Amino acid sequence: MSQDQKHQVLKRKLGPEDLRRFETPAIERESHGQTSAKSSVPDSASTVAVDFAGVTKSYGNKVVVDELSFSVASGECFGLLGPNGAGKSTIARMLLGMTCPDAGAITVLGVPVPARARLARRGIGVVPQFDNLDQELTVRENLLVFGRYFGMSTRQSEAVIPSLLEFARLERKADARVSELSGGMKRCLTMARALINDPQLIVMDEPTTGLDPHARHLIWERLRALLARGKTIILTTHFMEEAERLCDRLCVLEKGRNIAEGGPQALIDEHIGCQVMEIYGGDPHELLSLVKPHSQRIEVSGETLYCYAPDPDQVRTQLQGRAGLRLLLRPANLEDVFLRLTGREMEE
Ligand SMILES: Nc1ncnc2c1ncn2[C@@H]1O[C@H](COP(=O)(O)OP(=O)(O)OP(=O)(O)O)[C@@H](O)[C@H]1O
Ligand SMILES: [Mg+2]
Repeated sequence: MSQDQKHQVLKRKLGPEDLRRFETPAIERESHGQTSAKSSVPDSASTVAVDFAGVTKSYGNKVVVDELSFSVASGECFGLLGPNGAGKSTIARMLLGMTCPDAGAITVLGVPVPARARLARRGIGVVPQFDNLDQELTVRENLLVFGRYFGMSTRQSEAVIPSLLEFARLERKADARVSELSGGMKRCLTMARALINDPQLIVMDEPTTGLDPHARHLIWERLRALLARGKTIILTTHFMEEAERLCDRLCVLEKGRNIAEGGPQALIDEHIGCQVMEIYGGDPHELLSLVKPHSQRIEVSGETLYCYAPDPDQVRTQLQGRAGLRLLLRPANLEDVFLRLTGREMEE
């Protein structure tokens, strides 16, 4: 693409139509007349950043979010943990006022959503599940365009872009086109873009899906840096390790219902409460009767037998001398909780 064509693209991207694209017309109408200059930023002093009370959403006759209630305190990292189709992105969209709930009440940064979603969104940074960066533009240009969505002048955006690039570790890529970036770099740029308006609340929809371990660790480190700066983060994920590492509290979702809520360790203690012995290399169904008397619970998943054993040595003794068996003793984790709550092929 020539420089001229590129400038045309950039100019087009900065047009009023694109700015309007950022808003949801129905929501604009609802909030019309309610956003005064005085209330140009959401309530930064509120100790509750997000509150969902009995929120329900259906598509056709399918209930996608089912009487969901949760609260997120300011400065907290709160996780929405659930499998594909659990309703995580729908919840994120409702929080932003992009999808209207059928019932219930949502408050974000002290204002009701969707009624005053435009106001709420001024204090929110969003990392959507699927990157929607402009591939034709450079890293810097993407940030400039996004700044415009928040009414920032080029000068205002340029003043913050160096620190955003540093945050995203993209200083040396400022003039590279997005199409030249790796998946991890694109994710970091989307995160940096979400911070351009210095939001109080950051909503991240599966920030690390599809990334290699190195990129994932970088993003985790960056998220922790945001928390250290007092930001509130809502994170959707189906990576248990991610939730365990980052979240102060989380709710486990199944078919849009909140089936458990608490801190990661508290949930592990409450629902598992002992170490886990993973046994593989043999027929798990054949081994069941041997280990059952010494296990609090047993589960079979594929070729692996999971023994939730208060005294793992007794399980080990039972299996002594059996050739080919591999035993792995490990602390219980959030995945055990998740699988227990959402059901794995189970033998009690
Ligand atoms: N606009 C829509 N119209 C009809 N059904 C929808 C719409 N949006 C979402 N759904 C349905 O709602 C359910 C929840 O979808 P959602 O995208 O919120 O799940 P998710 O937890 O984010 O899943 P994933 O982990 O795959 O991203 C799915 O069954 C999906 O097909
Ligand atoms: Mg999703």
